[in-house]
Amino acid sequence: MTILVAGGAGYIGSHTVKELHREGFDVLVFDNFSSGKPELVGTRPCVQGDLLDREALRQVFRTRKIGAVLHFASLIQVGESYADPRKYYAHNLTTSLNLLDAMLEAGVKTLIFSSTAAVYGDPLETPIPETHPTNPVNPYGRTKLMVEEILRDYDRAYGLRSISLRYFNAAGADPDGETGECHDPETHLVPNILLSLLGKRPRLGVFGNDFATPDGTAVRDYIHVTDLAAAHVLALRALLASRPSDVINLGTESGHSVLEVIEAAEKVTGRAVPYDVGPKREGDVAVLLASREKAEKSLGWKPRLSSLETIIETAWNWHRKAR
Ligand SMILES: NC(=O)c1ccc[n+]([C@@H]2O[C@H](COP(=O)([O-])OP(=O)(O)OC[C@H]3O[C@@H](n4cnc5c(N)ncnc54)[C@H](O)[C@@H]3O)[C@@H](O)[C@H]2O)c1
Repeated sequence: MTILVAGGAGYIGSHTVKELHREGFDVLVFDNFSSGKPELVGTRPCVQGDLLDREALRQVFRTRKIGAVLHFASLIQVGESYADPRKYYAHNLTTSLNLLDAMLEAGVKTLIFSSTAAVYGDPLETPIPETHPTNPVNPYGRTKLMVEEILRDYDRAYGLRSISLRYFNAAGADPDGETGECHDPETHLVPNILLSLLGKRPRLGVFGNDFATPDGTAVRDYIHVTDLAAAHVLALRALLASRPSDVINLGTESGHSVLEVIEAAEKVTGRAVPYDVGPKREGDVAVLLASREKAEKSLGWKPRLSSLETIIETAWNWHRKAR
């Protein structure tokens, strides 16, 4: 039985492919390399294809015995989703619907879906439990919530079981240095700090220092990408063991402000981060932290590599070599 990983050549997908492989799963990546890169998959089996191409997808399910699917493939930039929502709704919904169609036609009924903390919107309580109301404030987050809702209907109607994993801020890189983060454009804090240190992007912009947080900068829940990858393997095993569909947060429950991340990067690298403070971005909230209780209880998952120091060390190691 093969595990199909849609978007497996991207940042989180490639780390998960490595983890699945290490755990003995037979993996096939399906990716159009729009933002992912073949070198992040290494020598593991990979088909270049687009989820918008229904026939290419069907072909994969016809020729391989797919037992379950992990779905990472998505457009992911919050800012772009405000500017061009049509692109986000068309891509993120159509690709997901095509994948679900191909799965159902082939009788495959097990799916792990990459969702996001953005489904919660402005939090009413923190850390945020999965029972918190969902009220995404940007089109990107709305596309993810819509797919979660589609998955609930498909479970009821067709028995397709899924776990939607709501990631908080993925960061860090493979400790072996085989894969790491290389979005283009890069919008995430940790790589942008390190790329500014390497002179590969302009000075870092800090978006707002008047949030209601101790140092005024936004606090986020950074989770090491290898910890995320491990949670996918646990979620997959849970579904393969006939557990029901679910929605689970993946975060550490502890937060770091932008200035704390900058300080940690300065400590790890021994270099001063060049930055300027600018205005807040639309939709940014002061604090976003995950409750990790459900992930611990239902998956037996614990973050192991998510200290800020390890996140920055592994990312620094990757960026110095890879970019
Ligand atoms: N990075 C984060 O902090 C974060 C946080 C929350 C949720 N997520 C979600 O996790 C998933 C992975 O994020 P990432 O940071 O690894 O992004 P990424 O851009 O690195 O990976 C996405 C992958 O999907 C592929 N892809 C996109 N459209 C495709 C299509 N039509 N057909 C085939 N392949 C396609 C890309 O080439 C890429 O390899 C996304 O769904 C994202 O919304 C990420």
